[in-house]
Amino acid sequence: MSKVTSGLEVVADLPALAQAALARLTACALESVRLRGRFTIALSGGSTPRALYQLLAQHPELPWQHMELCFGDERAVPPQHPESNARMVHEALTHCSFVPAERVHRIRAELPAREAAADYQHTLQTLFGHETDLPRFDLVLLGLGPDGHTASLFPYTQALSESRLWVTAHQVEARPRPRERRVMTQHSERITLTFPVLNNARELLFLVSGVEKAQAVRAVLEGNAEISAIPARGIRPSTGQLHFLADRPAASLLTR
Ligand code: 6PG
Repeated sequence: MSKVTSGLEVVADLPALAQAALARLTACALESVRLRGRFTIALSGGSTPRALYQLLAQHPELPWQHMELCFGDERAVPPQHPESNARMVHEALTHCSFVPAERVHRIRAELPAREAAADYQHTLQTLFGHETDLPRFDLVLLGLGPDGHTASLFPYTQALSESRLWVTAHQVEARPRPRERRVMTQHSERITLTFPVLNNARELLFLVSGVEKAQAVRAVLEGNAEISAIPARGIRPSTGQLHFLADRPAASLLTR
């Protein structure tokens, strides 16, 4: 595929991105509950989706008791650590009393990373049924790093070629990022969903904001680099829909 065939929507800025993502997530949630009685979502980490999660916290009317909140990836730190995605999501959303705690399925990253990955795979097998060969999320939220990583699938790492496990743990070199409020540690172990699971989703939604992502956005949408170099290009849903929500600064290098 020469470029990601996706629904690209460009909005003005991060607040507009959060609003557009809220509309899409809400539509997906209501349709999933109507058709299947529940909505399963893998939340993305980092800083971009925080504004979306804060908006969701203003919507107790959503069918939260039928919404299973999972994570696409996690840093190998305990949930109270400043770098924890579970902590970011808790502060923005899951602290709300209308979000049932039993519907929040965090990655237990306080465990040794490989153990946390195996534990999370068991959590997903319980959620999606042990008999299934791959879980199918109704929606997967994804971010994009300046280096083209998504979830915790970083360039030139073993995790990119994982084709059997649903969840894997690996060591990535950490690099401070311009907008990362949480200073990354020198080394960083990560736990992440793998490509087979991500690409089995019914819908995937990239949320990308900021001029520092512009080169990565062009590489994903218009480039032809190997997936090993730009892992986000490996997001190619087998049957699901792929949407790309970017603000104008992040989309500023696109040629079409
Ligand atoms: C993480 C995310 C990661 C993130 C991108 C973008 O755990 O950090 O899963 O893939 O989405 O690095 O991060 P920002 O939104 O902070 O730019």
